[in-house]
This record gives sequence, C-alpha cells and structure tokens, in this order.
Amino acid sequence: MKLLVTGGAGFIGSNFVLYMAENYPQYEIINLDVLTYAGNLENLKSVENHPNYRFVKADITNRAELEFLFQEGIDVVANFAAESHVDRSILEPDVFVKTNVLGTQTLLELSKQFHVKKFVQVSTDEVYGTLGETGLFTEQTPLSANSPYSASKAGADLLVRAYHETFGLSVNITRCSNNYGPYQFPEKLIPLMIQNALQDKPLPVYGDGLNVRDWLYVEDHCSAIDLVIHKGVNGEIYNVGGRNERNNIQVVKTILEELGKPESLIQFVKDRLGHDRRYAIDADKIRNELGWTPKYDYESGIRATIRWYLDNEEWMKGVSSGAYKQYFDTQYGDR
Ligand code: NAD
Ligand code: DAU
Repeated sequence: MKLLVTGGAGFIGSNFVLYMAENYPQYEIINLDVLTYAGNLENLKSVENHPNYRFVKADITNRAELEFLFQEGIDVVANFAAESHVDRSILEPDVFVKTNVLGTQTLLELSKQFHVKKFVQVSTDEVYGTLGETGLFTEQTPLSANSPYSASKAGADLLVRAYHETFGLSVNITRCSNNYGPYQFPEKLIPLMIQNALQDKPLPVYGDGLNVRDWLYVEDHCSAIDLVIHKGVNGEIYNVGGRNERNNIQVVKTILEELGKPESLIQFVKDRLGHDRRYAIDADKIRNELGWTPKYDYESGIRATIRWYLDNEEWMKGVSSGAYKQYFDTQYGDR
C-alpha cells in the first residue's frame, strides 16, 4: 500500500506516521507537510531512515506542488493537514479557510483525477457545535460549527461528501474529540499548562473553567484511523472518542498535582469568543461496526503524557521559538 499522510509533521499526523511505520513496515508512507509553525520534523527522527518512509515539503493548497506525487500512484490519502487551533482562527480566519477548505478540495480533486482508492478526512467533533449539560454527538448530529476553525472543517467535510456523492470517490470521514499525548504544540490546553506550570507562570483558564472536553490519548485516535483505512465502509462517517469528559479546571488541577505545583498558579482570564461549552462523543458506531477499542484510560494517559513532557524538555524548548512567543503575547497579553 502507498499511503499519503498530509500534515504528518504535526501533533496527530506525526504520531500516526510513527504508528503506521511500526505496525505496517511494508507500507510505503509519504509524509507531505508544508511545515507551518505546527509542523516539526524532530517528531519523526525515529523513522527518518526507515526504507519505506519519505518526507515531502509541499502545500496542500498548491496543486502544482502535489501533482507529481499523485502521478506516482497513491492508494490511500489520510488528510491531517490543517490549521488546527481555535484561538488562532479567531485572530486570523483567512488561512483556516484557505488550508482547511481549499486545501482539502485540492487533495480531493487530485484523488479523483488519479484514482486514489480511498480518501480519509481527519475531521473533528467541533463541526457539531456545542452540547448542553447532557447528550452526546452522534454521526447524525447536524453540523453546527461555531468557530472559524470548526466552520472550515465542516466545509471540508461537506466537500468530501460532495466528491463521494457527485464523483463516486471512495471516502471516509472521522470526527474525533480532543487528543492529548506526546508532540502536541504548546498552544493547546494540556501542553500549554504543563509548560507554564514548569516555569511557575500563571495558567490562563478561560471563563469559569467549566467547559467540558472529551479527552482521547493520541495513539487511540491513530488506531481508529488505521481501522477506518482498512475496514471503513465507503462513504461512512465515524465518530471517535473515549468517554473521558473532564472540565478544564479538572484537567489543570491534575497537571498541577502531578507536577507538585500550587493551585494559586491558576488565573481565570477573559473567555474565548464563541467558546463551545461541552463536547462528548458517542463512538458506538466505530466500536460496534469496526471493533475499535481505546487502549488508554484518561487517568493513566494524562500522567504518562505529563511525564513525557518532563522527559522531553528540549523538544518543548525547540518549539517555543520567537514566533511562538509573539503569538503568545498577542493571545494572552491583554487577558
Ligand atoms: P497540528 O496543528 O499539530 O498539525 C497540523 C499539520 O498540518 C502541521 O504539521 C502543519 O505544518 C501542516 N499543515 C498546515 N497547513 C498545511 C498546508 N497548507 N499544506 C501542508 N501541510 C500543512 O494539528 P493536529 O492537532 O495534529 O490535528 C491534525 C488534524 O486532526 C487536523 O485536521 C485537525 O483538524 C484534526 N483533529 C485534531 C484534534 C486535536 O485534538 N488536536 C482532534 C480531532 C481532529
Ligand atoms: O475537539 C477536537 C478539537 O480539540 C480539535 O478539532 C482542535 O484542533 C483542537 O485544538 C481541540 O480544540 P479545543 O479548542 O477544544 O482545544 P484547546 O486545547 O484549544 O482548548 C481546550 C479547552 O481549554 C477549551 O475549552 C479552551 C480551554 N483553554 C484553552 C487554552 C489554550 C483554556 O482555558 N486556556 C487556554 O489557554
């Protein structure tokens, strides 16, 4: 199998490349990434000399840069490439529409033209909008995106559907809840709080801190995508999530406790605009129809993740560059 992974230098994409190279050493894996601030080849050091792995620096919105790869004959595209951070989408929505909508459409068009056997779109539960105190997102929940990020992902999902319905392209869409684990960029809640706590800096908690996310260890997301690639029924959407609902204060307190830092570091700050209150995923379809079972429970997964960041301080320093500091000042300076 020749597998094209887009966005394979990012958090989930790099975990996925490592997972696939280990589990399917005979597959040819091409990692295509433009290396934005979120892309980091350091994550892939352990596979860079793997005989069946290759990295290509290219932009998914630039058809000319991609065509030669598709001409080689690709069996499966797994599209992770995206602008992924909600707060950045509030500051600068344009690039989210360009990458997430136009980039996906460019990949779909090439997949159609060059007869790709399956296109897997790595989407998000955020396309469903927000839940009240009860209930779960199912695959039938109407799309109701609230942020420029989630709206751009919803637009991409509809294009994937359109290429299936109109042109008969074989597709699947996965919609996963919040991931955590190694190599996550420290703009997202968990690595940001770990990084700040380690430096005794304030931990900026938005609003009342009671927004709920449904956390999944990244390797469990990778195993779900693996199953969808191999067994997913053409045209189907699969929700992915581990039923690990925690509010943000609970997550932050676990981090402080594990690092032996005081709760006085928590600082409540101005809420995120359009902040979705609660996400929770019904993953019965992928569990029952494809036999997916997550391996990691939240309590041990979060502790293992905290330890990983402690053991990999150099990685954290490497990604916290000047550009990161500039973003951080814009994002948190007036909070
Ligand atoms: P990330 O921001 O860590 O990585 C995104 C990667 O895409 C980076 O390596 C970046 O360089 C690359 N990229 C961006 N624009 C590109 C372009 N124009 N061309 C080529 N590459 C480009 O994101 P992540 O958290 O790893 O998320 C990966 C995917 O999973 C995204 O599609 C996201 O919507 C989805 N997702 C994320 C989560 C989560 O909790 N992080 C949950 C569900 C779904
Ligand atoms: O649900 C899946 C989505 O999860 C993915 O599609 C996105 O790509 C990914 O970024 C993530 O989105 P969230 O907005 O849920 O993740 P984030 O880590 O940014 O925030 C998690 C929660 O923590 C959210 O309620 C906002 C809050 N938060 C976040 C940051 C960065 C804070 O309170 N303070 C912060 O500094």
